[in-house]
Amino acid sequence: MRRAATYAMTAALLVVLARAADDLPLPDPLKTVAGKTVASPEAWRNGRRAEVLELFRAQVYGRAPVARPHDLRFETIATTKTALSGRATRKDVRIRFSGPGGESTIRLVVFIPNNAPKPVPGFLLISNHSWEGLVTAGQQSSPFWPVERIVARGYVAAAFLNADLDPDKDDGFKDGVHGIFDRKDAPRPPDAWGTITAWAWGASRVMDYFETDADIDAKRMAVVGHSRGGKCALWCGAEDERFALVISNESGCTGAALARRKQGETIKAINSRFPHWFCANYKRYNDKESELPVDQHELIALMAPRLVYVASATNDKWSDPPAEFRSCVLAEPVYRLFGLSGLGATNMPSPEHPLLDGHIGYHLRTGQHDLTGYDWTCFMDFADRHWKKESAKP
Ligand code: GCU
Repeated sequence: MRRAATYAMTAALLVVLARAADDLPLPDPLKTVAGKTVASPEAWRNGRRAEVLELFRAQVYGRAPVARPHDLRFETIATTKTALSGRATRKDVRIRFSGPGGESTIRLVVFIPNNAPKPVPGFLLISNHSWEGLVTAGQQSSPFWPVERIVARGYVAAAFLNADLDPDKDDGFKDGVHGIFDRKDAPRPPDAWGTITAWAWGASRVMDYFETDADIDAKRMAVVGHSRGGKCALWCGAEDERFALVISNESGCTGAALARRKQGETIKAINSRFPHWFCANYKRYNDKESELPVDQHELIALMAPRLVYVASATNDKWSDPPAEFRSCVLAEPVYRLFGLSGLGATNMPSPEHPLLDGHIGYHLRTGQHDLTGYDWTCFMDFADRHWKKESAKP
């Protein structure tokens, strides 16, 4: 009883905070830098979208110096047709490439449901957990990456480890793909890629692989990330329009949450603790959120007209659920340009009442900062709804 009352109070407080954020002066996704209002999908596609993307590249995440490396290649080192007690085919893939500073490999694990019609849509998780958690998937049940449940619902479950692109530490950009592709003969530009961009670049190389695998429906793949992985999933979806669905779980600051007047983690806090995540220019906005030429609702808007899903948790104040929710609401005008509904709500829903109908999905879950079974259920329900599959209970 007391617990229920606490949850109700928390939910009520979140609604109040979300409403308070309504009056913030925020950049208008539909207004160009030159002050023109964008009024058609063409004007968004052919002009304003590139402008917003470039602002995020230059001021926030940094730009990757290469797209697809010239020698990118894929090697399937093992195929197990009887994975998950015969329900899935597991492929262990190595994505190899090189650049001026050396060579590297992304390790990818993919489970493809055996009884689903091919090609199969699914989910790519950018994992910031351990490699062991990925290789033992299916033997040990994990709420973070529940491969059995994903496969049971007729989806591909794929995952790679962010550290294969760049270890998550501030090393002056010497290791990982920075060391391989960055120029050594010139000072590092203030818009050079940070670690989050390196991980997002890796997800795009995985998409390059998906496009070659006849079992996988590369046109209906979701990119999913939790927390720092969620920031990365959003940035990946902004840069790489091949992902049909982009899912951010509790991505918070410099993820789904608006930067202006955000509660919990701020730009200054994130730049201080994680100076390697974003580009050097981003540090200019420490304590100066109002000077940032973009805000995070415009990152969500960069997914239009594709599907995007944002998830928050009630006790995750550091991420700031109302600021994540407001981003979704404020991205909606861009979806409307395409004749699509965005979120279809302006009031934050109560916990465990996911919004699944629009092209922007959202849920608030009761509990702590984590990626849980409930979160995955909502992601799959959202995919079912929009990818016209029958909703089946896990
Ligand atoms: C820290 C960081 C967050 C991040 C989180 C995570 O709390 O401040 O920005 O999202 O780690 O990745 O778990």
